[in-house]
Amino acid sequence: MKITILSGSQRQNSNSAKVGSFAETYFNTGGAVETFHLKLENHPLPLWDDQISDSQLEEIWKPIHSELSSSDALVVITPEWHGMASPALKNFFLYCDSKCIAHKPALLISVSAGIAGSYPINEMRTSSYKNSRICYIPDHLIIRNASNFCKQYQDPQDQLIKDAVKRFHYSLEVLKVYAEAFTQIRASESIAIDQFPNGL
Ligand SMILES: Cc1cc2nc3c(=O)[nH]c(=O)nc-3n(C[C@H](O)[C@H](O)[C@H](O)COP(=O)(O)O)c2cc1C
Repeated sequence: MKITILSGSQRQNSNSAKVGSFAETYFNTGGAVETFHLKLENHPLPLWDDQISDSQLEEIWKPIHSELSSSDALVVITPEWHGMASPALKNFFLYCDSKCIAHKPALLISVSAGIAGSYPINEMRTSSYKNSRICYIPDHLIIRNASNFCKQYQDPQDQLIKDAVKRFHYSLEVLKVYAEAFTQIRASESIAIDQFPNGL
């Protein structure tokens, strides 16, 4: 099984990427899950426009496309910025074609410095799936007081953080179950993306 972790903050040393690294370590422990961790802070994709040449696409997008295509599931992490998902993440979805992440389950995680964080989840659920066909699972996570969570993740002292870490691991396990099950959906002859490349 292979899972792509998409850390959507374009800010250096972001909490989103730290949370992504926690997920990466969790999946890699025991070796059962291979991961590809794409941190948009280190690999910023240029703002998409239709002038991007084929050779640029070949260089900046093809290696990522290939990792996505061979993945079974995704963890999609968005920071909360002014109550919105990050522009880098929304830009990422403009690069995706109708196949590379189609009918692949994804766990959404929102990372907030404060006590909010639900709007970016809502935004991603509303506006990133139509043509990509990514399938967000019903469970999602909102990491509030993110700096504190990241500081205490390895050795949580507060009961609240202990519970949050447990919930974090639980959701990663749930995603693995979806990842296994969704292979059947993608293998089905009823899936006809070439015939109906765009969602409605
Ligand atoms: C441009 C910008 C806007 C932000 N807006 C909010 C906000 O509306 N509410 C909030 O609680 N935190 C806000 N934050 C703080 C982020 O939620 C915080 O940095 C968190 O760690 C997620 O972002 P990161 O992954 O880039 O670290 C904002 C940060 C930036 C850079």
